Amino acid sequence: MCGIVGYVGEKQALEVVVSGLRRLEYRGYDSAGVAVVADGTIQTRKKAGKLANLEGLLGDDPLPQSTTGIGHTRWATHGAPNDANAHPHVSGDGRVAVIHNGIIENFAVLRAELEAAGVTLLSETDSEVAAHLVSAELAQDPADLVAAVRRVCQRLTGAFTLVIVHADFPDLVVGARRNSPLVVGVGDGENFLASDVAAFIEYTRDAIELGQDQIVVLRRDGVEITDFFGEPTQVTPFTVTWDASAAEKGGYDLFMLKEIAEQPKAVADTLLGRIGSDGLLQLDNMTLSDHELREIDKIVIIACGTAYHSGMIAKYAIEHWTRIPTEVELASEFRYRDPILNSRILVIAISQSGETMDTLMAMRYAREQGSKVLAICNTQGSTIPREAAAALYTYAGPEIAVASTKAFLTQVVACYLVALYLAQVRGNKYGDEIATIVNELADMPGKVDLVLDTTEGVRELAQEFADAPSVLFIGRHVGFPVALEGALKLKELAYMHAEGFAAGELKHGPIALLEEGIPVVVVVPSPRGRGLLHEKIVSNIQEVRARGAKTIVIAEEGDELVVPYADHIIRVPACPTLMQPLVATVPLQVFACELATVKGHDVDQPRNLAKSVTVE
Ligand code: G6P
Repeated sequence: MCGIVGYVGEKQALEVVVSGLRRLEYRGYDSAGVAVVADGTIQTRKKAGKLANLEGLLGDDPLPQSTTGIGHTRWATHGAPNDANAHPHVSGDGRVAVIHNGIIENFAVLRAELEAAGVTLLSETDSEVAAHLVSAELAQDPADLVAAVRRVCQRLTGAFTLVIVHADFPDLVVGARRNSPLVVGVGDGENFLASDVAAFIEYTRDAIELGQDQIVVLRRDGVEITDFFGEPTQVTPFTVTWDASAAEKGGYDLFMLKEIAEQPKAVADTLLGRIGSDGLLQLDNMTLSDHELREIDKIVIIACGTAYHSGMIAKYAIEHWTRIPTEVELASEFRYRDPILNSRILVIAISQSGETMDTLMAMRYAREQGSKVLAICNTQGSTIPREAAAALYTYAGPEIAVASTKAFLTQVVACYLVALYLAQVRGNKYGDEIATIVNELADMPGKVDLVLDTTEGVRELAQEFADAPSVLFIGRHVGFPVALEGALKLKELAYMHAEGFAAGELKHGPIALLEEGIPVVVVVPSPRGRGLLHEKIVSNIQEVRARGAKTIVIAEEGDELVVPYADHIIRVPACPTLMQPLVATVPLQVFACELATVKGHDVDQPRNLAKSVTVE
């Protein structure tokens, strides 16, 4: 949420900053803005709307040459998405420019204080106060910008990443971080700051994670990191494992299409190196000891959005394979309901970005209550894995489209690896049983590939139902979270009314929604799978058809029993019940993507959304 870029070096800062913003635009696209330090002045350009609008403005009204600059792409919190509220914000004397991500919670008090002192604020944002405060603090000691920023940070509450430039310090970019993300890119004769590594991956793969309450001073020839009181701090350098091409469209029209197509590789990469030659699991970064894992008597999974759906799927596998009672909860609800937590509870925080504020706050709360936290995350250098007791990375590579696809599949796989590892350590399963399931997992990239080969029919169906007033999704067992995910994708991308239901629950209320011709997507479990599930869902299909609904049935190859009840069939390869979400979700992603395309929506950047939600 809000993309931030800072640069100091030998290149033209504007080019570096704008190319960084392009890669970060998925974080917010309500407005964009840049500032450079040139000829002893601060020069800014900012514009409401997508980055393209700013680029247009820069074409009409170019900025002077400069090698020091900052840029911002906004997801609005305080104040409408207009030009005035776009960042950077500038101090009254025009000499300080600030960009901000997060929410400054005490901004109202600070704003009142500034106004009482005669300062005129030009925007409705919480962020602008930071520019005026830095200016005021600097007046106390005009030689030390960093000390001024430190003093301002000590006064702010809430979440903030601030990046600051000043007209009198042409070779300096100062960053500060509390709760909102900020990563340093270390170059040769140049250095970078950004909300995530995608912004500077074109120039360097050497990065440094910033911790809580740290200030970074960026110069051409060095990076200095201290805490808010100027004390040196421990930092963690890392090398980004993917290159710039991973964050490009690579010949696809949309990032989402590329990311859907990358799913077989993402799943394979997430399994890679984690399965020994004996078929048993060896998890990197599993810093929780076997003893600690044996002590666990309950698991709580916390996550948001699509990651929450992956957690719902994981519950079925974890309970089945380990017999450890598992709850799954929306992080935003969990944090504020006084949950029962103790040292025997393992909290699994799932997050693609590793920065979702709801998940981060819930995880911190769990840690404070003594629970062990394991993070499942896709983003190196992000906060959630850094603060967790242990982390398991998904290797989906950068996910740029706002609607999550490949991260979802890999989250399910990573959760399964954790479940099997727990079963292995705790002796819930024999080694050969684990090896059998691991082999099933290893077959999944190939099966996802098969689904991708047959998406043409799904696209045609999407076109047929483009004018439907609403689409319902139903499933049982692991098919239920798949149904929820299918509905979420459609809401996010096609802006259509869509709901996912447990198929058995339909008759307890939602069936009243059915009207003649309403499409109902049914995720059908394998007829070879668990007990009566298949029979039960066939009954559910009949119930909806009897009310005039049009059924779109996702069923495995060879399942002929559903044929008489399906208006349309989407086939997926046969797999064991718990593996089915990995294939059944894919057509639903394609369905939503195609519907959004037919409706002319921006698939990669749907309205009102941001990929990484760093406010609560
Ligand atoms: C946002 C995104 C969703 C994502 C959710 C959780 O709402 O639009 O696609 O699933 O955040 O994000 P995370 O990075 O924590 O997985």
